[in-house]
Amino acid sequence: MWKALPVFSRALAAFRDNDFEQALILAQQAHEQQPELLVFAEAVTYLTRLNESGKQDVYLNDEGFRAFIRGGGNVPLYRAVSAALQEVYRSYDTLNLLDVGTGDGRALLPALTDNIRHLTVLEPSESLLRQLRRQLDEHGVSHEAHCAPFQYFTQMQAGSWDVIEATFSLQSIPPQERASALTWGRQHGKRVLLVEFDAPDLTNIMAIETIRYIVERYEQGVAEYAEDRALVAQGFLMPMMFGYFDCSQHRTNYEQPVAQWIQEFQAAGFTTVDAALIYPYWWAAAYIIDAS
Ligand SMILES: C[S@@+](CC[C@H](N)C(=O)[O-])C[C@H]1O[C@@H](n2cnc3c(N)ncnc32)[C@H](O)[C@@H]1O
Repeated sequence: MWKALPVFSRALAAFRDNDFEQALILAQQAHEQQPELLVFAEAVTYLTRLNESGKQDVYLNDEGFRAFIRGGGNVPLYRAVSAALQEVYRSYDTLNLLDVGTGDGRALLPALTDNIRHLTVLEPSESLLRQLRRQLDEHGVSHEAHCAPFQYFTQMQAGSWDVIEATFSLQSIPPQERASALTWGRQHGKRVLLVEFDAPDLTNIMAIETIRYIVERYEQGVAEYAEDRALVAQGFLMPMMFGYFDCSQHRTNYEQPVAQWIQEFQAAGFTTVDAALIYPYWWAAAYIIDAS
């Protein structure tokens, strides 16, 4: 099915070397060999724009991100995440809860139950925290809010919680800072819940198997959007996909396989660490890790 992968991998190599003209020529060849594949067609559009108007004009845009997050597999993914969290909350008579990297509350808000006695939210982005707090206030949910990265919070605050949870946020913490974050979680939480993707190891980014994984998955991702396809593909998915191959981009995401998360929890002293699949998302399956 992927006969044009070798030529497309050469396009990615040229992109990595900042030879955008050559990247476009090779991507066009991949598209001609397999015109039925969406990912090659979108890559050609992206590289054409890049050649015409430069990198700054083809970067992630808010509109593209918003259409992405509100559509496709993100809808069932988030429904599954909130349901998995709520199932845990319901197993308590009362609980106090800390949510780390809450964002605007997309996962947390639909999960909230009446038995949460005390809710603490932590979010380093001021604007996301503002949106979150407004919604919590609208729903009459009393809460304590902190605007800080988890690494700062762990140094400033002492407290203890029945459940500490983080959905797709600990992937932002660099590997060298993660052990102390998880150890703090064990010391301050009776139970830690982590929701993350079982992401591939992307260390060897130019290996043909890594490229195959990325390209096959992005084909699925693009296909999940029909009406908004051009907006989502050009404003979010292509910048993300090419971003893996852009040496000049500063890394802000450290996803990893679930097996690696489990090892890190065990190394931080958790004795029971269970992982369960919650949704087979296009990029990678999403799991909930339940550690105590
Ligand atoms: C992909 S979003 C997930 C948001 C939310 N938990 C959800 O599931 O919708 C990642 C969140 O982690 C936050 N974040 C980034 N670095 C962080 C850090 N060092 N400590 C805590 N949160 C962080 C971001 O601001 C963002 O809101």
